Amino acid sequence: MKNVEVLDFQPKLMDFKEEIVMGLRKFPKQTDPKLLYDEAGSRLFEQITALPEYYPTRTELKIMSEFRHSISDRIGKDASILEFGSGSHKKISLLLESLQEPAAYIPVDISKSILKESVNHLSQRFPKLMIKGICTDYTKPFQLPIELRKAKKRVVFFPGSTYGNFEPLVGQNFLKRTAKLLQKGDGLLIGVDTKKEQRILEDAYNDSQNITAEFNLNLLKRINREHSADFNLDTFRHHALFNEEIGRIEMHLISTIQQRVSIDREIFHFKEGESIHTENSYKYEPGQFKKITEQCGFKQEAVWLDHKKHFSIHYFTVQ
Ligand code: AVJ
Repeated sequence: MKNVEVLDFQPKLMDFKEEIVMGLRKFPKQTDPKLLYDEAGSRLFEQITALPEYYPTRTELKIMSEFRHSISDRIGKDASILEFGSGSHKKISLLLESLQEPAAYIPVDISKSILKESVNHLSQRFPKLMIKGICTDYTKPFQLPIELRKAKKRVVFFPGSTYGNFEPLVGQNFLKRTAKLLQKGDGLLIGVDTKKEQRILEDAYNDSQNITAEFNLNLLKRINREHSADFNLDTFRHHALFNEEIGRIEMHLISTIQQRVSIDREIFHFKEGESIHTENSYKYEPGQFKKITEQCGFKQEAVWLDHKKHFSIHYFTVQ
């Protein structure tokens, strides 16, 4: 398997327990959404993407497929594609198939095992393509390997509305850093969930099969397992709502009783009805997202939407 390798920048993972405990000492209690993705959490998220109520994944794929020629024309020939967070193979395969002679595929992910899996899978599907994974935390500063800096053109692919998990200022810093990582004329192809009717948004995070609830509650299972905590999952319930003023879906775990929970030896108190805020998923109107990104060193070249305007894919270039 020539042309296939993973460059390990040895990202420093913040200690899971430190993160959890720090978040639960805060008021209101809150935890980083990335903590939802242990092995079970990632599997549950895969299930979420196939739910009838969860429109983002299938809508993004539909937009990618419908507009693959215009997307390919915008990106042009000989581009090296950097994917931030190597997620589902479906999206990247569709993109690579649509492009004219892509020069390379470089998935960037904090998990070495996910990266290896993705590199292996894609190299079988695209045997002639140069594929090189980078194991690092793309939300932190990092440098591109020299070959990639010398390549003709770099395009960052950031699908799935993962951007929506960033707090606005964190997101803007991420965009500025990404612009600096790239060169003039390089691209950013990014999938962003839009604002829409409250019912549609809330149904997507309150599915009738309760998979999203299971995904959220899995965080407590994970803390119990990894840190001998004693969360009783029967005394917490999943709650997701659209916060219209702020423009975001919020996920919470609500304690249904007053109780004390111990994590290692530390005790955490919960009032009845008290929440742990586990995730924000910001939604952006296309014009709003264009403005934000253009304040961070990019210029919008195109935006594609489905006919209901439920999801958007933007293409920007570095100024
Ligand atoms: C992976 C962050 C895009 O916000 O829709 C899905 C995560 N959480 N259902 C989203 C998620 C609950 C998802 N993102």
